[in-house]
Amino acid sequence: MRVPGDKSISHRALMLGGLASGSTRISGLFEGQDILSTASAIRAFGANIRKNGEDWIVEGVGNGCLLEPEGVLDFGNAGTSMRLVMGLAGVYDMETRFTGDASLLKRPMGRILDPLRQMGVQAQAEGGDRLPIRLHGPRTANPISYRGPVASAQVKSAVLLAGLNTPGITTVIEPTPSRDHTERMLRGFGAPIDITLDKQGARHISIDGQCPLKGQEITVPGDPSSAAFPIVAALITHGSDITIENILMNPARTGLIATLQEMGAVIDIENLRSQGGENVADLRVRSSDLKGVTVPAERAPSMIDEYPVLAVAASFAEGETLMQGIEELRVKESDRLAAVASALEVNGVNCSEGRDWLSVRGHPGGKGLGAMTKDARVATHLDHRIAMSFLVFGLAAEHGSLVDDASMISTSFTGFMKLMADLGANMETAI
Ligand code: S3P
Repeated sequence: MRVPGDKSISHRALMLGGLASGSTRISGLFEGQDILSTASAIRAFGANIRKNGEDWIVEGVGNGCLLEPEGVLDFGNAGTSMRLVMGLAGVYDMETRFTGDASLLKRPMGRILDPLRQMGVQAQAEGGDRLPIRLHGPRTANPISYRGPVASAQVKSAVLLAGLNTPGITTVIEPTPSRDHTERMLRGFGAPIDITLDKQGARHISIDGQCPLKGQEITVPGDPSSAAFPIVAALITHGSDITIENILMNPARTGLIATLQEMGAVIDIENLRSQGGENVADLRVRSSDLKGVTVPAERAPSMIDEYPVLAVAASFAEGETLMQGIEELRVKESDRLAAVASALEVNGVNCSEGRDWLSVRGHPGGKGLGAMTKDARVATHLDHRIAMSFLVFGLAAEHGSLVDDASMISTSFTGFMKLMADLGANMETAI
């Protein structure tokens, strides 16, 4: 089987293609709702984006030449897209307005507005630096050296993208490495990027701004964060043996695979190869007897979106799984720590939740777990990963599972239901 293209790389391919001069051809672009939000924002800045057969073609405007959008940019559920575009466009001497859906309206944007303000951007936001937001850049932005308070690829990327339209050197200092697609792809488009490590092991990533960018050919590999759902489904469903082809194996994204292997999962990494500057592989996954482990805080950035589905795997493992240093889960599409803990409880799993940790005690075999009554329904809070995780949960729970909404799954995984049904899962909509 295959899963859709990587969401992080797809966003960046459209953004950098929209900014570069000349044309960018993208194959394997993820075509879910979040990416369509990026495409319409990038079109609003003057780029031309069209589909040609299976590929997408982007004709960019040239670095420094984004146009002022006419209306408010509505990013729906897409937090990554909005935060990166705030960096990309916020430093321009023009007005850009941002809004989103009910989930995005609640998410903190101060982490992006703080560095942008330091660069000279005027930002008007609702209380607590929330949406809707209006940005107006200065005539000339100030280059900064920024060490963010949280390990976040979104913040790093927003500052580096702002650095593209800023004279001089803009630097981001990253004590714990987060996904590095922005710096890799900026380099691929021709931006002068310099990366060094200091004595404490922090990464200093610098961009020399106002550089020309040139259109590229990009092949987007399968998304490891989407592959996580069929991987866990196969592990917890007796007798499974599946192969998921063409998955991105960037080390900043493979924390879940490492953790599951420590838990005893049989996951073979086959045909490891290099494709367009990234490693990709086919993953063969067989049902496995899992054991609880402690997942250290340092691993969180490399599996930040995978904790909900890890909690599902932990529900069927022997013993306790302790996930440490995961406070960032509280500001994702929902408060994922609270949402996962209450979904586990609704389904009869023993767990405890702290400010920045979650502990799950497993029930191998899934006896007694699941939706015992029609009221035992998981509240998804508009969060696609909560919905998919707790549908997967139902595969191994004695009483199946029930989630209150699955419509938002298409933001990150189009065709999820069909793909799971093709693997033999019985998932249906109960009205
Ligand atoms: C992403 C970064 C992560 C992740 C998100 C995608 C990206 O967010 O949760 O789904 O593409 O840069 P943070 O940087 O806020 O951890």
